[in-house]
Amino acid sequence: MSNENQFDVVVIGGGPGGYIAAIRAAQLGFKTACIDAWSNAAGKPAPGGTCTNVGCIPSKALLQSSEHFEHAGHAFAEHGINVSGLELNLPQMLKRKDTIVKQNNDGILFLFKKNKVTFFHGLGSFGGKADEGYTINVSGPTTATLTAKNVVVATGSNARQLPGAEFDEKLILSNEGALAIEAVPSKLGVIGAGVIGLEMGSVWRRVGADVTVLEGLPTFLGAVDEQIAKEAHKLFTKQGLKINLGCKIGAITKGENNVTVAYADSTGAEQTATFDRLIISIGRVPNTHGLNGEAVGLQLDERGFVVVDDECRTSLPGVWAVGDVVRGPMLAHKAEEEGVAVAERIAGQHGHVNFNTIPWVIYTSPEIAWVGKTEQQLKAEGVAYKAGTFPFMANGRARALGDTSGMVKFLADATTDEILGVHIVGPVASELISEAVVAMEFKASSEDIARICHAHPSLSEAVKEAALAVDKRSLNF
Ligand code: FAD
Ligand code: NAI
Repeated sequence: MSNENQFDVVVIGGGPGGYIAAIRAAQLGFKTACIDAWSNAAGKPAPGGTCTNVGCIPSKALLQSSEHFEHAGHAFAEHGINVSGLELNLPQMLKRKDTIVKQNNDGILFLFKKNKVTFFHGLGSFGGKADEGYTINVSGPTTATLTAKNVVVATGSNARQLPGAEFDEKLILSNEGALAIEAVPSKLGVIGAGVIGLEMGSVWRRVGADVTVLEGLPTFLGAVDEQIAKEAHKLFTKQGLKINLGCKIGAITKGENNVTVAYADSTGAEQTATFDRLIISIGRVPNTHGLNGEAVGLQLDERGFVVVDDECRTSLPGVWAVGDVVRGPMLAHKAEEEGVAVAERIAGQHGHVNFNTIPWVIYTSPEIAWVGKTEQQLKAEGVAYKAGTFPFMANGRARALGDTSGMVKFLADATTDEILGVHIVGPVASELISEAVVAMEFKASSEDIARICHAHPSLSEAVKEAALAVDKRSLNF
């Protein structure tokens, strides 16, 4: 084998976990390769994984476009802006999304060059153990045999199938098809009121679809703080999303141009609903397809996740795994943090990921964002806490924006005042949550936030006010 194909670190998978691990490894002086199989419609490399191609980035592009459309149709008039002849140009909306995806793909290829990461476009699989490390075969658009002292598995996840309802991406859609519907469906069904169901349901509702969401659990957004979830449920329902909880899905039957779903509703009554398109968003499963982990004895758990310890070490020496293919939340920023930490551990450093301060965001309107514990978790754990909330209705900037729905909620330890959780439903919650993440990383108290000067008028003042409310001394409410 040529020396040029011997690497210190080979990363399999070029999503946020993999490409970031590769860049960090190269920054640390390792000879690094990254293998990624994703191709765009033209057959060209499209690194960035689910996140860039059919996840975070395209969904946020469509959320933004559809929100503009909704504002132009419903919110501008209040600002004294009359719009006539408003029209949806869906092909342009989808084209813009595709352009943004391509910019991100190309950006990653540029970053690989800049950091001297060797990129292989193809499927990476374990060949076997080598003298010093492992043999990795690349097949597909590129063919090569590599050796690596260290291997990082970052092969991501795929949409979970509902038995009896295979994705065809025409009528029955995973996230992939949900981001590329070529004409607005008049009736859109969504199974699963989780993050994807709510984000994609919002996109298509805003551009005119009648959206019905069928959720299996009796509670709405069970992982979210109950008070916040209740408020969000109220707001989404008011916007027109029809959210049906406690549904037991039965037969799903495809017609020529529609899909019929039989289900039992929360009272047990049998129902049927026919949709032009059906999105199934009931979670994601780890992807180890094509990896040939068996060749080296890579251990998977009963659900197919690569087994790792707290530091992302697999059962094999020198083999690590990060991101959606391992335990923990399936979030791009979690994958990235693990990628950085693994590269640093390979270098003998003490990479660290704090799972207690990973923020969550649901990019609906209003957005939902949180970090740390929910009130129901603190109750279940018997932790004594104080709570403070502040509504955006009482925030001047929110009024000026015309977006006063929602609130900020702080949860702090009853004795020490350390912040235990912050929950936001409201405008740009995704950005506001960063302050809470930083505060919690530094083990701040709610009083610390309450005493920090926040710009006026800004939405961040609602964060300060909620911190003040923990001590029952909000100034503007
Ligand atoms: P992936 O991004 O899945 O990347 C894995 C890569 O490995 C892929 O390119 C795949 O082709 C490649 N691969 C797999 N097997 C092989 C192989 N054998 N050889 C070579 N290459 C291989 N998260 C957020 O934090 N914020 C969001 O807003 C957000 N929005 C989302 C919206 C949607 C619709 C979806 C579906 C997900 C969203 N996520 C979001 C989740 C996020 O996309 C994932 O958590 C993230 O992409 C995981 O990164 P990863 O690197 O582990 O895997
Ligand atoms: P999810 O786990 O967020 O939600 C799935 C929902 O489907 C749950 O409410 C669950 O109770 C329900 N469900 C499961 N089986 C069902 C069934 N048989 N019938 C009816 N309902 C059923 O999963 P989702 O929305 O598919 O997203 C997958 C993951 O992708 C998320 O958990 C998240 O990690 C990631 N993601 C993150 C985003 C973000 O950070 N903004 C955006 C989109 C996805």
